[in-house]
Amino acid sequence: MEYRRLSNEAYLFDGVKEQHFSSKDLRVIRSLIETQNLYSAAIREIGTKLENLNDEFRYTKDRNPIHQIKSRVKAPRSIMKKLHKRGLEMSVESARKNLTDIAGVRVICPYMHDIYLIARLLTSQADIGLIRRSDYIENPKPNGYRSLHLIVTIPVFLSERTEIVSVEVQIRTIAMDFWASLEHELAYKFLNNKPEEVSEELKECAEVIANTDSRMQHLFNRIHHGALVE
Ligand code: GTP
Ligand code: MG
Repeated sequence: MEYRRLSNEAYLFDGVKEQHFSSKDLRVIRSLIETQNLYSAAIREIGTKLENLNDEFRYTKDRNPIHQIKSRVKAPRSIMKKLHKRGLEMSVESARKNLTDIAGVRVICPYMHDIYLIARLLTSQADIGLIRRSDYIENPKPNGYRSLHLIVTIPVFLSERTEIVSVEVQIRTIAMDFWASLEHELAYKFLNNKPEEVSEELKECAEVIANTDSRMQHLFNRIHHGALVE
């Protein structure tokens, strides 16, 4: 969505003209578009930092600590749903003030050690602020979910001001992402009311996966730092 002016007619987005809305609605729509742009910009900034780190490692260490980066700006519908669930005011201003996951970046790494490497390198950059760090690898969620979550802030430079924007960064291995993606899909299917048997099975799978992640890390360490190198 973009806001643009064409000749004398004001378009909000995709051919929808301003004159179709009341001035109150216009304010809300403009603020929504501005917010989406702002959080997209924050995602791009974080994405560039991550890609730069990955490129540097490809060049210096001949390997990539990042396998894949995914990102999304939370849809207005999900934003409103979350505000409603938390009993907060349902407005764009309230969302910007209260929600730290409007911008989300998911970083998928080959190995467990890469997760902590990326987290350390990203949060030590001068313009990045760390608001919260939740280590669900050291302390997995009761259902078996594992990932490292960071809430960081990053400045976004606009034409007339600088905004400090928060971004939720989830860092996990390929294996953790495999589990989380399928668990998410199943949770959706059962409307968050999974039968006990399904939850138990998922939790066991998470443990098998965590064990495999550890074994792969050990294998990597042996190949790169010792015994298995010619
Ligand atoms: P939210 O209201 O969900 O944002 O809770 P929170 O602010 O306490 O954040 P938390 O760190 O618990 O999790 C935020 C995000 O992590 C979620 O939106 C999911 O993307 C992911 N996540 C957390 N728990 C799970 C889980 O059990 N399964 C899956 N698949 N993803 C999860
Ligand atoms: Mg969330």
